Amino acid sequence: MREKISIIGAGNVGATTAQLCSTFGFGDVVLIDIAEGIAQGKALDIQQSLAILQKDCRIKGSADYADIKNSCIVVITAGFARKPGMTREDLIKANGEIIYDIAKKIPQYCPEAIVITVTNPMDVMTYLVQKVSQIPPTRVLGMGGILDSGRFKSFISNYLKISPDQIYALVIGMHGQTMVPLPRHSTVYGQPLPKIIPEEKIIDLTKRTVAGGAEIVGLLQTGSAYFAPAAAIVEMIQCILHEENKILPCSVYLQGEYNQKDIYLGAPVKLHSKGLEKIIELELTPQEIDAFRQSGDSVRSMISILQQSFFKSTENL
Ligand code: NAI
Ligand code: 2OP
Repeated sequence: MREKISIIGAGNVGATTAQLCSTFGFGDVVLIDIAEGIAQGKALDIQQSLAILQKDCRIKGSADYADIKNSCIVVITAGFARKPGMTREDLIKANGEIIYDIAKKIPQYCPEAIVITVTNPMDVMTYLVQKVSQIPPTRVLGMGGILDSGRFKSFISNYLKISPDQIYALVIGMHGQTMVPLPRHSTVYGQPLPKIIPEEKIIDLTKRTVAGGAEIVGLLQTGSAYFAPAAAIVEMIQCILHEENKILPCSVYLQGEYNQKDIYLGAPVKLHSKGLEKIIELELTPQEIDAFRQSGDSVRSMISILQQSFFKSTENL
């Protein structure tokens, strides 16, 4: 039997992810969207692209959650994207309501699935998905760190004119303003960044990484990035489906690791076919520890916004 991957939200990120998953032949894909016709139209378009590319995957668009039944992976990209001048935090309330509904539905149809949350503010929405769905934290993950690390890698590669293939770049912490790029743990052909790039330039590269999403929002004007985000989601899906034993930065539930508890934050993790296998604890400097703590504080303050608003009367999050 072929694997089934469901993607909730057939917008820019969801549809691009669906196209990549089906073109790479990961399995059959279901695309769900609340806006009638969007998922069906994009699925039909992708299905026709597969015929041209001679790929034998099925893709279905739907507005009915019954179609996600028995999926092994569910990716959540439904919700609003940032507009110019808007922070990810502004999205908490609007996207919280959407994610709450979706998180209630997933365990009804595929209680064994691994869920990858993408919707922003991603670390907070991932927390919400886990608390509402009650799916074990090892099977509820968030995508953000692969994207941020990918941007860092791309900027390093452009600056040094060295193939990204020979660069390892790492960003941990929240997917947002308080993310923590780690130049000491980023390497070019095994050499830590501070050994080969002047400090001022590293500061420029990390600043551009932190502002990487906003830079694209500013250029697009009508939405946010989706090609690199979809590639990052695909990296996670491929690692899980093919048991690649990679260590990737993902948002995971921390229970004391990096001095953080009961919170989702980005950290290097080993994934396996059942989701999270192991959280890797890197040795951090006092400054890096402090930056990670600030990331945790940002996420915690957003969780309290969720708790104080519409969830107060319904759930103990
Ligand atoms: P988009 O606006 O293109 O697509 C969102 C889709 O969600 C729309 O088609 C909309 O109809 C659908 N939707 C809304 N409510 C729904 C519901 N209740 N059920 C099913 N579908 C629903 O937005 P885009 O660019 O695809 O971004 C999606 C989300 O992902 C945003 O919150 C964005 O900020 C976030 N994002 C996160 C990234 C990360 O690294 N974690 C990277 C890129 C985007
Ligand atoms: C990004 O970083 C919007 O979170 C999204 O591009």
